[in-house]
Amino acid sequence: MTEKDVREILEAAEREIPETRDRAGLAEKRARFLGRERGLLTKILKELGGLPADQKRTVGAAANVAKKRIEDLLAAQERELQRTALDPTLERPEDMTLPPRRLRVGRLHPISQTVREVSRIFGTLGFETVEGPEIEWDYYNFEALNIPVGHPAREKWDTLWMSNPLGDDPSRPILGRTHTSPMQVRVMEKRKPPIRVVVPGRCYRFEATDAIRESIFFQYEGLAIDEKLTMADLKGTLYAFARQVFGSDRKIRFRVDYFPFTEPSAEIAFDCFACEGRDPNCRVCGGDGWIEAAGCGMVHPDVLRRVGYDPTRYQGFAFGGGIERLAMLRTGAPDIRLFYQNDLRYLEQF
Ligand code: PHE
Repeated sequence: MTEKDVREILEAAEREIPETRDRAGLAEKRARFLGRERGLLTKILKELGGLPADQKRTVGAAANVAKKRIEDLLAAQERELQRTALDPTLERPEDMTLPPRRLRVGRLHPISQTVREVSRIFGTLGFETVEGPEIEWDYYNFEALNIPVGHPAREKWDTLWMSNPLGDDPSRPILGRTHTSPMQVRVMEKRKPPIRVVVPGRCYRFEATDAIRESIFFQYEGLAIDEKLTMADLKGTLYAFARQVFGSDRKIRFRVDYFPFTEPSAEIAFDCFACEGRDPNCRVCGGDGWIEAAGCGMVHPDVLRRVGYDPTRYQGFAFGGGIERLAMLRTGAPDIRLFYQNDLRYLEQF
């Protein structure tokens, strides 16, 4: 019995113990190396007494070091088995054939997309996008736009009046704004010319819903104030807009219209990009060949005067159109209500 025997036992222990996979296996290794009956190392320690003194010392020392080392190995493997037992998934092989979970990437609502598109296009023409309050004073929605109490134009907009939870001032009624035009006045009150703004935003009307009308809807308002602005600038601006939205072949049609806050006033229509006026049953234009897009005109001198602008020095034009209208044309939506039913099967197409 020599030091070599001790080394071989230790080597066997270093090989076998870390490979043990369970408690029973580890107990078996403990018995194999250190067991009182049949432990390989125990046997050597027992037989030390029969050795000559010098060998007894060296082999005995080696056997004691080996014993300590084997005990450490057993304890370390014990901890390792405990750790993996706590997290059994570390032991479980992954099933690489499972299909991955579907990633759902969000997107902007088609109305938001259209709002951004309108802002972007007017941005290229030098118009800054601003926003205003959806709950508005009667003054800005009507009075300041030449629509005093009793004016027949008030009837054109079926108004949703509100009551203020903090108390109402009967001389200052509030409402869900019926159009974005009140922002013309708010912007002019705050700024000095030159002004070029576009105002997208939600509007409210007391209206029965149908395929092309909603009681909550979006408009975009445009306002430009400067010296020497004319109807030609208005036409050029809306023409450039129409071409960017619907392509470079678009024609536009101006017809006389009436709004109390513009003079002269006009209605602008684009020629139908779908049938170009050739299909009497066209679903986009209804066979008319034209798509009405916005109301517009030169800002009324009384409106300018009311915000302290001198109408002999400054002129301006304004326009206002429906966002849903544009969105329907851009996406081919046959019914405005599709935008507001929150049906992902529909909305995810855009
Ligand atoms: N605010 C008007 C409407 O809602 C449209 C309009 C805007 C007309 C600006 C002229 C100038 O019908």
